[in-house]
Amino acid sequence: MYAHGVALRSSDRSPTLALFFGLLVTMAAVVAYSWYTTRQISGLRELQNDLLDHNRRDSLQLLRIQNDLNSLGLAMRDMVENDEPYPLTAWSAQFQRIRSDLNDALRLEEQFSVAHRTPDQAEYLKNSVAQFWDAVDRTFLLAQQGKENEARAQIRITLQARQATLSTTVARLLVQNNESEELAATRIAQIYNRVQRQVYIFLAAILAAILLTSLYLMRWNRRLFAELGALSEQRSELAQKLIATQESTLRYISRELHDEFGQILTAIGSMLTRAEKHVPEDSALRKELHEVCEIAQSTLEKVRTLSQALHPVMLEEAGLESTLDWYIPVVERQTGVSICYEKSGEPFPVDSNCAVHVYRVLQEALNNVARHSGARESEVRLRFLQDLLELEVEDHGVGFDGSAVKRGIGLTAMRERAELLGGRLDLQRPAQGGTLVRLAVPRQNLDHVK
Ligand SMILES: Nc1ncnc2c1ncn2[C@@H]1O[C@H](COP(=O)(O)OP(=O)(O)OP(=O)(O)O)[C@@H](O)[C@H]1O
Ligand SMILES: [Mg+2]
Repeated sequence: MYAHGVALRSSDRSPTLALFFGLLVTMAAVVAYSWYTTRQISGLRELQNDLLDHNRRDSLQLLRIQNDLNSLGLAMRDMVENDEPYPLTAWSAQFQRIRSDLNDALRLEEQFSVAHRTPDQAEYLKNSVAQFWDAVDRTFLLAQQGKENEARAQIRITLQARQATLSTTVARLLVQNNESEELAATRIAQIYNRVQRQVYIFLAAILAAILLTSLYLMRWNRRLFAELGALSEQRSELAQKLIATQESTLRYISRELHDEFGQILTAIGSMLTRAEKHVPEDSALRKELHEVCEIAQSTLEKVRTLSQALHPVMLEEAGLESTLDWYIPVVERQTGVSICYEKSGEPFPVDSNCAVHVYRVLQEALNNVARHSGARESEVRLRFLQDLLELEVEDHGVGFDGSAVKRGIGLTAMRERAELLGGRLDLQRPAQGGTLVRLAVPRQNLDHVK
C-alpha cells in the first residue's frame, strides 16, 4: 500500500506540464524576438534607403546646381568687366546651355528632396531661380536693343546679387543635407546599439531558461531516483520478510508433520502389530489388521517424504552437503532430468538458516531446468572455495528467451535469497547455449544466523 502511494505521488509531480509550459514560453520569446529584430532591421533599411541614399543623390544635384551658379557668376563677371571684343548677346548661348542644365538639375533635385524639405523651402528655391532667369531675360533684351551699358548695370545691380543669394541658398541646403545625414547615421548607430543590447538580453534570458529547466529536470530526476531507490528497498525488505515467514512456516509444518503425525502413525502401526498378534493366524480379521498396518506404514513414509520436501530437517541435522547428496537423486527421480553433480574443495560448516537459502536456490534452478529449458541433462557444481561458497546449475537447453512475456517470481526469489546471504546471483549463457545460474556467497556470511 505504501509503495503504491509513493508511486502515485511521483506521477502526480510529473514535470511534463511544467516543461511543456517552459517550451511554450521559450518559443513565444523566440517568435517575439524575431519579430522585434525584423522590425528593427526593416527600420534600418528604410533609413538607409529613404534618407541616406536620397540625401546623397540630392547633394549631388545641389553640387551640380552650385557648379552652374558658379559658371554663371564667372560669365557675369566677364560681362561686367567689358574687356571682351564681342557684344553681351554673345553670352546668350552659354546662358541657355547653363539654364537647361540647371533646370535639369533642379528637376532631379526636387525628386530626391521630397522627404526632407519643407514646401516653403522648395517654393523659395523655385521662385528665386525663376526671378533670376526673368532678370537674365530682361538683361539680354536690353543688350539686344543695343543698350549695353544699361544691361551691364542691370547685371551688376540685380543679377549678381540674385546669383549670390541663390548660391547661399544652395550652400545652406547642402549643409542641411549634411546635417540630416549625420542625424541618420546617429539614429542608425542607436538602432544597432539597441539591437545589440536586446541580443544580449535575449541570449541571457534563453540561457537562464535553459539553466532553470536543466536544474529543474536534474532535481526532479534526483528525487525520482531517490524514490525509486526507497521503493526498491521496501520491495526487497518485503520480499525478504515473506521469504523468512515462508521458511519458518514451512519449517513449522514440516516439524509438526514429522514429529506429531509421525509419532501418531508410528503408535498406530505398533498398536496394530500388537493387536494382530492376539488374533488367530488364519482369521480374516488378522489379514485386514495387517493391511491397515501396511497402510499406516506407507502413510508414515508419505508424511516423512512430504515433511522432507517442505523443509529438509536434514539441513539442521546433517548439514548442507549431505542434504544436497540426498536431494539430487530425488529430483532426478521426480523430474526425469539426469544430473551430473560435482563437489569440490574442502567442505566447511554452513549454518542451517543460511543453508536453507542455498538449498532453495538449487531447488528453484533445477525446477526451472525441468520446466523451461527442455534439456534432459543438467550439471550441478558445489564449490567450497577458500573464502566463497559457489553453487552452479547449468543446462544446455533453450536458454532465456528475451521475448518471454510471462514472468514468475522464481528468479526474483533467488536474487532476494542471495541478497539475504550477502552474496550474488548471476545468470549467464554458457558458450554451448542454455542457462547457467551461479550463486556465490562469502564464507564469512555462512556461519551466522540470518
Ligand atoms: N533454465 C531455464 N531455461 C530456459 N528458460 C528459463 C530457465 N529458467 C528460467 N527461464 C525463463 O525465465 C522465466 C522466469 O523464471 P521464473 O523462475 O522467475 O518464473 P517461472 O519459473 O515461470 O515461475 P515460478 O518460478 O514463479 O513458478 C521463465 O518463465 C522462463 O521463461
Ligand atoms: Mg521458476
